[in-house]
Amino acid sequence: MWRIDLSACDETGGGELLSSDERARAERLVGAKARARFRRARISLRRLLSEYLQVAPAELALEYGEHGKPRLVSPGAGDGAADAPPFFFNLSHSGGLALCAVGQLGEVGVDIERIRPLSYPGPLARDHLSPEERRLRSDWETEAARPEFFRIWARKEALLKAAGLGLSRPLDRVDTIRGELDGRSWWLTDVFPGEGFAGAVACARRPASMRRWSWP
Ligand SMILES: CC(C)(COP(=O)(O)OP(=O)(O)OC[C@H]1O[C@@H](n2cnc3c(N)ncnc32)[C@H](O)[C@@H]1OP(=O)(O)O)[C@@H](O)C(=O)NCCC(=O)NCCS
Repeated sequence: MWRIDLSACDETGGGELLSSDERARAERLVGAKARARFRRARISLRRLLSEYLQVAPAELALEYGEHGKPRLVSPGAGDGAADAPPFFFNLSHSGGLALCAVGQLGEVGVDIERIRPLSYPGPLARDHLSPEERRLRSDWETEAARPEFFRIWARKEALLKAAGLGLSRPLDRVDTIRGELDGRSWWLTDVFPGEGFAGAVACARRPASMRRWSWP
């Protein structure tokens, strides 16, 4: 698991590493901050994947699933080894930080959320948490419950992203207590990206251990 400080990422020369569709996407984003964050996250992702796969960052080809999940076109194509095990990754960014999960144990999903004020915390919890999740506390409408709400929210998104579904499922049916989605079980755990943030990662198989690094 990589924690990426987007404000510390050097963009110098990085624009050339991006594909034409990534550059076009950056241009479509509203606001210089959003554009810089997207670019920095993709430049960092390419540099990271390049280290693992021994392929130049600009040469990494990405394709997208039905709901937009990016994946490597030739997942095991490190060093020309056609029989290398597939390589999986997923990326999430929020409030100047990003998380990038990488591995070879199967599909992976990651989410980071800045813990921020919510206009309607009570209705959000009622509509999007499962009955078991709601029962974890009785004060969802209060400020005190906010970190827990975002912790559960990050777990939901990590599960949905591992399955490549994005927010295409009713969130109250995503079971973050058992780590189940559409009858399938996932390994799911919390990640602590830093003060004021919540995070989670889900993977098709339980890793023997999860190592954490910082980028750059
Ligand atoms: C995926 C999704 C949950 C991301 O939510 P978010 O909290 O706003 O954003 P995050 O920062 O956590 O994740 C964004 C990253 O996840 C990845 N991602 C995008 N779609 C994904 C999906 N379906 N599954 C897993 N990962 C996905 C991308 O790397 C993206 O980063 P990018 O901005 O560099 O492209 C949300 O965008 C979504 O539901 N998308 C689906 C939209 C859809 O169904 N589209 C269908 C037509 S393509």
